[in-house]
Amino acid sequence: MIKRTVLAAAMIGIGALHAGEVDLVKSKCAACHMLERPTADMIPELKAPPMEAVMYHTKLVMNDKEKMKAFIADYVLNPAAEKSVCESNKVQQYGVMPSLKGSITEEELSKISDHLIENYPSEEFVDMINEIQKNDKMNALLNSPFLINKEALPHMTKLLIKHWDKQALGLSDEQKKKLLVIRKNTIGEVQKAKRKIDTLETEIMEALFMDEESPKDLETKIDEVAKLKAAVTKVHIQCIVDTLEILDDDQIDFLLPFWEYK
Ligand code: HEC
Repeated sequence: MIKRTVLAAAMIGIGALHAGEVDLVKSKCAACHMLERPTADMIPELKAPPMEAVMYHTKLVMNDKEKMKAFIADYVLNPAAEKSVCESNKVQQYGVMPSLKGSITEEELSKISDHLIENYPSEEFVDMINEIQKNDKMNALLNSPFLINKEALPHMTKLLIKHWDKQALGLSDEQKKKLLVIRKNTIGEVQKAKRKIDTLETEIMEALFMDEESPKDLETKIDEVAKLKAAVTKVHIQCIVDTLEILDDDQIDFLLPFWEYK
């Protein structure tokens, strides 16, 4: 078996040591983490974030190789939602990773993390993520019911949900309870306004092109859209203010830099 691995590695032109590491990752991690780059249609079928995503998030939070090694080694043996670097809503979706304690040695873990840090994420994956984020941003803007869409107004509910369980943010149960109320009220209000705005916009378009009404006749509806957008922007701003009141300064300092990446 070993001979065959070495031979196979030689044939495809990679070192035997490297092949050993690849085999280790395959046997210890690949049952859950896919090692190739996922395509969009694979994502609903996944049991765990792809290794590309795990390492993308790890490197987003840490830039020191030793820190990354320590993080991976600790996470594999003692996984916990609050230690996770991935988005909290994703961790909730997959469930926390089961510990591999007892089925992996320290040496194996060291080799595995060296290999992962060296090879992941691929440039193609990072490009893909950037592209997805750009499209998400465009779509969010196109579908936005807000009057003000400047980056200066952070989307607090979205930011919080991505970091919800993280130790580095450290939300208490009390804070979570209050924040969930704000989240529910805000989303409810925004969705209600958005439905009305969508309906009005469709009506305006139909009146203009099908019924050939004059711009003058459309004024009431246009004013109504503007009023709804202004009202929902006030809801957005109230949400920011209410949220900031619940968070302490350290939590705000932790959270806001993520707004740039959205
Ligand atoms: C039985 C399934 C399973 C196996 C095997 C497994 N993982 Fe995981 N792993 C998960 C799931 C599910 C998550 C996502 C939830 C979480 O972060 O805890 C995860 C998350 C992680 C994370 C943390 C990402 C984050 O959220 O910050 C790291 C690091 C990680 N895995 C490394 C490994 C490595 C390295 C191996 C192989 C030695 C491995 N895992 C094997 C299921 C698995």
